[in-house]
Amino acid sequence: ESIEKGGYEHFMLKEIFEQPRSILDSMRGRMIAESDHLMMSGIREYENKFVNAKRIIIVACGTSWHAGLVAEYLIEDFARIPVEVEYASEFRYRNPIITEDDIVVAISQSGETADTLAAIELAKSKGATIFGICNVVGSSIARATDAGAYTHAGPEIGVASTKAFTAQVTVLALIAMIIGSKRGTLEETKLRQLMVELETIPAKVEKCLLLDDQIKEISAKYKDATNFIYLGRGYNYPVALEGALKLKEISYIHAEGYPAAEMKHGPIALIDEQMPVVVIATKDSSYEKVVSNVQEVRARKGKVIAVVTEGDTTIPSMADYVIEIPETSEHLMPLLSVIPLQLLSYHIAVMRGCNVDQPRNLAKSVTVE
Ligand code: G6P
Repeated sequence: ESIEKGGYEHFMLKEIFEQPRSILDSMRGRMIAESDHLMMSGIREYENKFVNAKRIIIVACGTSWHAGLVAEYLIEDFARIPVEVEYASEFRYRNPIITEDDIVVAISQSGETADTLAAIELAKSKGATIFGICNVVGSSIARATDAGAYTHAGPEIGVASTKAFTAQVTVLALIAMIIGSKRGTLEETKLRQLMVELETIPAKVEKCLLLDDQIKEISAKYKDATNFIYLGRGYNYPVALEGALKLKEISYIHAEGYPAAEMKHGPIALIDEQMPVVVIATKDSSYEKVVSNVQEVRARKGKVIAVVTEGDTTIPSMADYVIEIPETSEHLMPLLSVIPLQLLSYHIAVMRGCNVDQPRNLAKSVTVE
């Protein structure tokens, strides 16, 4: 087992550090920016279906559902097709309206999640086209779908999903770019910029991983907290949910992820000097709004741990700790902003003596309801 861990103390840490490589693998053969090559064989066959789809319904569970939320923003933005993101467990039992013009995209690392599989069977019986995004080749979900794309992240052993998430987001970004370009809703120049930017992501993830020591220090400071709040807006809102999920899964600290502006409708009541608030405040279209949310947290004496874009000078003057990550397009930011949150949860869990790779009560793949 120690050989399999490749010198890392846990599979989770190994998998976090594999991300520059796994993200590259998830786009390999599908995109080469300098030759304008953008292609995904699973999509090609169903291209007309995607181009003419009236609606895309994404079904998933857990971390894969968070990747689905990022995809909602990407697909609606680039391809202008309405997207709904559903927990598979709710979708399957609520008599949903599904038509033959719908495409159901099922996202699953393991390809074995019982609720996601059942949601697929239901959508199939109503005539929808089913597209799968799985990591495990030949898995039940991969076999049950009409077409799909593998994420190629390699085996993920740690129960808390890390590299599977970033691979899913990469593949979903490529899909949104392909459909947007075919539908003519994503301008050529913007598409090209995105391709060039996506190609730089593995190197930028590498830079985020250099933050490990700094994040270890922050972890030592907050490891005994009993609650955490994670805030983000826009593309960073699903990342806030994912950061909170990672922390509760492996450290057993209660954590809530919220869209930053929604904080005033409840969670703000929880904020006092004991409450660490992780704010993802990278430079994007909602940056100014997030700055005011940080001020609201400060005014209530909350401890602010901010993830910001390199060179930011505004948020650092308000935060207790600042984690600087490289700049990228806001559409791709989840691929970078999630990395420090994965490391934060990992180090806090290790410091609390938790079983990081096999947390209590959790399973890697949930094959029963
Ligand atoms: C379990 C795992 C999570 C995972 C979720 C969905 O809860 O512990 O890490 O995100 O199932 O799994 P899937 O394999 O369908 O992505």
